[in-house]
Amino acid sequence: MTKVCVAGHGFMGGVHAGIYHGLGNADLAAVVDFQDGVREQAAAKYGCATHATIDAVLDDDSLELVDICLPTPIHREFVVKCLEAGKNVLCEKPLSLSMDDAEAILEAAEKAPGKFMVAHVIRFWPEYVVTKQLLDSGDLGAPLAANAARFVPAPDWSWDDWLLDPERSGGAVIDNHIHDLDYLNWIFGKPETIYARGLWSEQGGLDHVFTTLEYPDGKVAIAESGFFVPAGMGLVMTLKLQCEEGCVMLSNIADPTLTVYRPNREPEHPDVPKDDGYVAEIKYFLDCVANDKTPAILTPEDARLALATSRAALDSAKAKSEERL
Ligand SMILES: NC(=O)c1ccc[n+]([C@@H]2O[C@H](COP(=O)([O-])OP(=O)(O)OC[C@H]3O[C@@H](n4cnc5c(N)ncnc54)[C@H](O)[C@@H]3O)[C@@H](O)[C@H]2O)c1
Repeated sequence: MTKVCVAGHGFMGGVHAGIYHGLGNADLAAVVDFQDGVREQAAAKYGCATHATIDAVLDDDSLELVDICLPTPIHREFVVKCLEAGKNVLCEKPLSLSMDDAEAILEAAEKAPGKFMVAHVIRFWPEYVVTKQLLDSGDLGAPLAANAARFVPAPDWSWDDWLLDPERSGGAVIDNHIHDLDYLNWIFGKPETIYARGLWSEQGGLDHVFTTLEYPDGKVAIAESGFFVPAGMGLVMTLKLQCEEGCVMLSNIADPTLTVYRPNREPEHPDVPKDDGYVAEIKYFLDCVANDKTPAILTPEDARLALATSRAALDSAKAKSEERL
């Protein structure tokens, strides 16, 4: 049974804490949050210890895993402290806001004895996982072109509205678009050129963005992300992936959610596992910790590349330029 602390019990911390609390192989032993009311709620819900700062957690050797669900600008401070204290660390995406912070985290992770993974949940989201498995099986031939889109209503729940502040969240590109940019990196590898254009908010955030990514072998992808669709729309995510031997269509609002089209065959609907991506990523990281395995589905370098790709998209849209990685 792995003893876990969730640091930050807002929207994402609430999701993660609930998952650990419900799993048989994890013991949600502590929650860290600097808001008194949030700590009271967590203590009542899970019967766990709560702390206003991370210090007590760093000193408690029985706590093996710290799950960082704090605002992105403070990921570096908390992740590095936890890694240096010998903890296994799962950190919500994005790895950080700046590339400097990313490098500092990777350096700490390299030196630390604990496991480290960034929670890029799309690499664990059932439909995206099945699509990757289909590609890896060779059954569809090589991927040639993709169109990935993601729309979410304004993230209006966050502490101090930090998610609505592009200076602190990075806006739609660093907070939301990064999901698809990371997935496209997983499929196509590192992009060579990145060309992004979008709509800017009054606060200076890129609220809606289109990014074209070109790869050294001539393959191409387009990703689109919108941060401010009407609340009633909820989360919408889609992927169209053209391969040599067929085409995959994924949409979380279609039924079925995943369809594979091949020449001269009826459309197929592959089986999709029932666990959602958050449960799957947490189960995976717990397994890595319990069985001393280095997380391979998402390495720290993958998380750094996801951030670098997203930062390049933001730079491209700002400067109206084409960026190279
Ligand atoms: N994977 C996903 O689908 C997904 C979705 C939403 C958010 N996220 C990521 O999760 C992370 C957290 O986002 P959120 O939406 O949960 O934010 P949030 O504002 O809802 O929650 C953050 C919590 O951290 C606490 N906090 C802030 N600063 C603190 C400090 N110095 N010490 C202790 N507690 C502190 C706040 O009180 C709050 O409860 C971000 O990195 C975000 O990008 C990921």
